[in-house]
Amino acid sequence: MEKANNSKPSKRDSFGSSFGVLVALAGSAVGLGNLWRFPYLVGQNGGAAFILIYLGFVILAGLPVMLAEFIIGRRSQASARKAFLTLAPGSRWDITGVLGVICCILILSFYSVVGGWGTEYLYKAVCFDFNTGNDQALKTMFSNFSTSVWRPLICHSIFLALTAGIVIAGVQNGIEKFSKVMMPVLFLIVIGIAVRSMTLKGSGPGLDYLFKPDWSKVTSQTFLAALGQAFFSLSLGSCMVVTYASYVKKDANILSLSAQTAAADTVFALIAGCAIMPAVFAFGISPGEGPDLVFITLPHIFSQMPMGGIIAIFFFLALLLAALTSAISILEVIVAFCIEEFKMKRGVAVALVFILIWILGALCSLSMGPLDSFKILGRNIFDLFDFLSANFLMLIGGLLVVIFVGWKLGRKVVFDEVNNGGSLKMAPWLLKTLLFLIRFAAPAALLAIAFFQIHE
Ligand code: TRP
Repeated sequence: MEKANNSKPSKRDSFGSSFGVLVALAGSAVGLGNLWRFPYLVGQNGGAAFILIYLGFVILAGLPVMLAEFIIGRRSQASARKAFLTLAPGSRWDITGVLGVICCILILSFYSVVGGWGTEYLYKAVCFDFNTGNDQALKTMFSNFSTSVWRPLICHSIFLALTAGIVIAGVQNGIEKFSKVMMPVLFLIVIGIAVRSMTLKGSGPGLDYLFKPDWSKVTSQTFLAALGQAFFSLSLGSCMVVTYASYVKKDANILSLSAQTAAADTVFALIAGCAIMPAVFAFGISPGEGPDLVFITLPHIFSQMPMGGIIAIFFFLALLLAALTSAISILEVIVAFCIEEFKMKRGVAVALVFILIWILGALCSLSMGPLDSFKILGRNIFDLFDFLSANFLMLIGGLLVVIFVGWKLGRKVVFDEVNNGGSLKMAPWLLKTLLFLIRFAAPAALLAIAFFQIHE
């Protein structure tokens, strides 16, 4: 049954079907990034204009990086660092894999804390706790909770334990099975909430905000935020796709899997926008509320909306499911690395990584309250981990990956992997365009953003 313990390549775990790969990848991509980060970034960066820039980056930088990671993982059939060693023996490209694993450790630490907040808020929704709340009471509720010591720690532990419980069952029996059931449920819930939100009285301006661009709000910061969000939301630059692709069969069409994943993630983000913005406008709230949007503004809206109590339960259930399918992908990168580098059994690897992430996550959680004054580079631990991973390691990882695939592996390998050695019929212009995106467009976009970031 459980084959993943074995470190020999021939016994590696793998996904069972193409649909399984797609839901697992979409599960990784669709997460807090879509339900929590995307709506508040849209709100802060002027609506539709931000969305259009975001879409441009998904195609210009997101898709090529995802395809490049796919090529590395599927060709090598190995975890983050070993993948680079297999494809470029004797070089130092394996550092890219190590950076990816470090990036995943940082992300999972704060991700698990926010996932824990989601768990607490689902509990509160089930108890109809938002009903009594006026805006101020809900603000106090969130700040009392997030700055306290024990409750967030307990929630972080529960969320991390759920994540570990799925990953311990393996790729096919854990990750694939869970995603296959939960992803459709998640889509249905969010579509239902979007319909409710768009049929509220006064929701029209919210839709205009989402779909009519106002270019006057666009600055260089908008571009930075959009690219960072594209990378975070598609789970790029951290060897997540390398790791999942290493479980993908040789006859799968990696171009169509990459495109479908990017499309599913983007469509989901837009639906989440339609679930949130019309309601925000219908209740006369400013769209630029920032990171508190999901935990303060939305409960406030739910408390005033007809049937809001029920909608709140579904919303936080969706948030928890979305966060879980993403967290398992981040954990799998670290666990696969431990299994293949240190020849650990899957169970042992999951247990050790659990302890490491629990400690780092606890520091993130405490940095909201008692440890808030402890600052590195002017940031508390939570913000530091977020900043280092999303604004730094992921972008460097993405740049290294496209350079590695475009220039080190080169044209022949790219064509060979994309059309499966010629067995998939593909127009030459399509292959050439993809190579161009990997070699020039994606590195240029990433370098331009790095330049702006240094100049700001
Ligand atoms: N994409 C997920 C989200 O939108 C987060 C995520 C999952 C992630 N796996 C990742 C981010 C790997 C970076 C790297 O919430």
